[in-house]
Amino acid sequence: MLTKDAPRLRDMPAGDVIKAYRRWAPVYDATFGRLVRDGVKQATTRVNSFSGRLLEAGVGTGLALPHYGPQLSVTGIDFSADMLRRAHARVSKAGNENIESLVEMDACNMTFADSTFDVSVAMYVLTVVPEPQKAMSELARVTKPGGTVLVVNHFSVDHGMRGAIEKGLAKHATKLGWRPEFPVDTVLTCDKLRLVSIKSVKPLGFFTMLEFRRIG
Ligand SMILES: C[S@@+](CC[C@H](N)C(=O)[O-])C[C@H]1O[C@@H](n2cnc3c(N)ncnc32)[C@H](O)[C@@H]1O
Repeated sequence: MLTKDAPRLRDMPAGDVIKAYRRWAPVYDATFGRLVRDGVKQATTRVNSFSGRLLEAGVGTGLALPHYGPQLSVTGIDFSADMLRRAHARVSKAGNENIESLVEMDACNMTFADSTFDVSVAMYVLTVVPEPQKAMSELARVTKPGGTVLVVNHFSVDHGMRGAIEKGLAKHATKLGWRPEFPVDTVLTCDKLRLVSIKSVKPLGFFTMLEFRRIG
């Protein structure tokens, strides 16, 4: 799949991401999880206007899983076994019958066949994956033509106080487990995905929801 040129990014080796989420897993819901809750609700509300098979890439501890409607049959993937274990526990406890499977898999190299899903979602994941452009191409590949790809993410700016903070934090990306410096152009590289809407997400518009249509 063709991709356009994207900004150069700080390396996030897979082993470092897995280590970072081993540390995050026990405290994720009580910390970062609180910050992303509004975005998860906003994204799942949008996704619930669709039906069919849904992929959640980087499902983490499964915060979104209880919010998906019964018309969606959900597959979640993540390459942190520690985060996934919590997602499994959440589903067992809540008894969500529309969760088809939760599997350990790299979003940059998925084993699903082309056009498997009607909708694919990646929330707070692309700043983390080792190769975000590859993840976007993979999301496009596994989504049916005409289907939807929804991305919720933090995108950096290169000016003002916020830009300065993001630049300052960038050197800690590996420890944090995400890249503070991550321009939106990074995810606008796949020629099979047409951007159809951009929405600000709470809190404080720090996050953004991008909706793409998969071009046939
Ligand atoms: C910030 S958490 C977001 C979790 C969840 N989407 C949420 O909204 O709470 C990022 C997740 O992406 C996962 N991840 C990072 N790189 C990945 C990759 N290449 N393939 C699959 N999952 C990945 C991490 O293990 C982690 O669980």
